[in-house]
Amino acid sequence: MAKVKTTFFCQNCGAQYAKWQGQCNACKEWNTIVEEVIQKPEKSDWKSPTSTVKKIAVPLRIKDIDLSKEPRLNTFDGEFNRVLGGGIVPGSLTLLGGEPGIGKSTLLLQISLKLPYKTLYVSGEESQKQIKMRAERINPNNNHCYILTETKTQNIFKQIEALEPDIVIVDSIQTLHSDYIESSSGSISQIKECTTELIKFAKETATPVLLIGHITKDGHIAGPKILEHMVDTVLQFEGDRNHVFRILRAHKNRFGSTNELGIYEMQGSGLREVTNPSEVLISKKDEELSGNAIAATLEGMRPLMIEVQALVSTAVYGTPQRSATGFNAKRLNMLLAVLEKRAGFRLGAKDVFLNITGGITVDDPAIDLAVVAAILSSNEDTALQKDFCFAAEVGLSGEIRPVHRVEQRILESEKLGFSTIFVSKYNKISLKNTAIRIQLISKIEDLIGFLI
Ligand code: TYD
Ligand code: MG
Repeated sequence: MAKVKTTFFCQNCGAQYAKWQGQCNACKEWNTIVEEVIQKPEKSDWKSPTSTVKKIAVPLRIKDIDLSKEPRLNTFDGEFNRVLGGGIVPGSLTLLGGEPGIGKSTLLLQISLKLPYKTLYVSGEESQKQIKMRAERINPNNNHCYILTETKTQNIFKQIEALEPDIVIVDSIQTLHSDYIESSSGSISQIKECTTELIKFAKETATPVLLIGHITKDGHIAGPKILEHMVDTVLQFEGDRNHVFRILRAHKNRFGSTNELGIYEMQGSGLREVTNPSEVLISKKDEELSGNAIAATLEGMRPLMIEVQALVSTAVYGTPQRSATGFNAKRLNMLLAVLEKRAGFRLGAKDVFLNITGGITVDDPAIDLAVVAAILSSNEDTALQKDFCFAAEVGLSGEIRPVHRVEQRILESEKLGFSTIFVSKYNKISLKNTAIRIQLISKIEDLIGFLI
């Protein structure tokens, strides 16, 4: 084998070094120097039998570009298809990130078991037996799914050449190892090199590749940011490990929108697609309890009814506690300040706890009004009517602000049998003859009149 040439570059300023060192002399940044391959041997990573003829790209008029030749692979998983924008694009590289134990391996194994195509599931993390045990829980009757436990990319490509799979899944990119780089698996240089090799393979053979990636403590995909630039699609699998719901989002998608969202429920037999999220997220209670309010939110393009719970109690210690689960704590403080100033509530000496049920996190500002209503309800210890719901943003001066796609929210609330929805007076609503009462309000004071 001809010699592989590598050298070290600073990822921050690009300075080149003959060997590794901790600090870059040029820009003085620490831990930015990374090994990179600059020359590879002749027979390198992936070499397809047909790639000897080099194709030269020619410019095409945009209207002459034919899209119909790019059929997408159906994954037979409605939620996964939706997030990808209608299925997997041939030759694309998709990265699935998520915290440990959230269910990434389960999701991709489950998809491989549903696919009617020849699938190669490469695992560097678990043994074939372990994967088989997991597969038994999901759906063991599949003749097209092959499991390979290997971490060296050169060996993986050898197996791929022999098997010729229609789709390749790699669990995980951090365990892969290429011969051309000396540093250990999971290092920036290894991740970069292995991804480059996989991209080359995917593009040359039009085989889609799905990669699993780990997440660091601060929520980023472990490895260089450049990994996210290299792949076509970045999906994030999130949720609270102690809850059953998992949300799949696209952070980047070269072939579709990033607005779509998939919801799954973790069960003993794998992940179940949740097609009617609103109904599962709202707990069915006979009694009316104080501190509960329902928000009509939108996650991406999908309406989602979410239950907000608040608890307001007298502060035992000097400084009152404010804590929020699934909701931005700064925003909670802002809403409390607005309530204090505009509605005359003395919440300064009270502890306030806020929780979004189901273990999901919401950033839709339309949840504000439900948060305010839940706090007011708990503070007064009077329950809101069970069939009320809310969709509006609250501004700093206590004004109730309009939210986007309000009609979609109203229709979802109507479908689920709510009697009244509170929205901003400034929302333009052209819906006629709805079964649900649309209560328009403009100030936070108006809301108090209705609720208490
Ligand atoms: P896993 O896919 O291993 O997570 P990741 O690859 O993201 O680290 O899933 C881990 C959890 O999922 C594990 O704690 C057990 C749970 N699980 C179920 O509840 N039901 C199942 O059918 C399977 C396969 C896993
Ligand atoms: Mg795993």
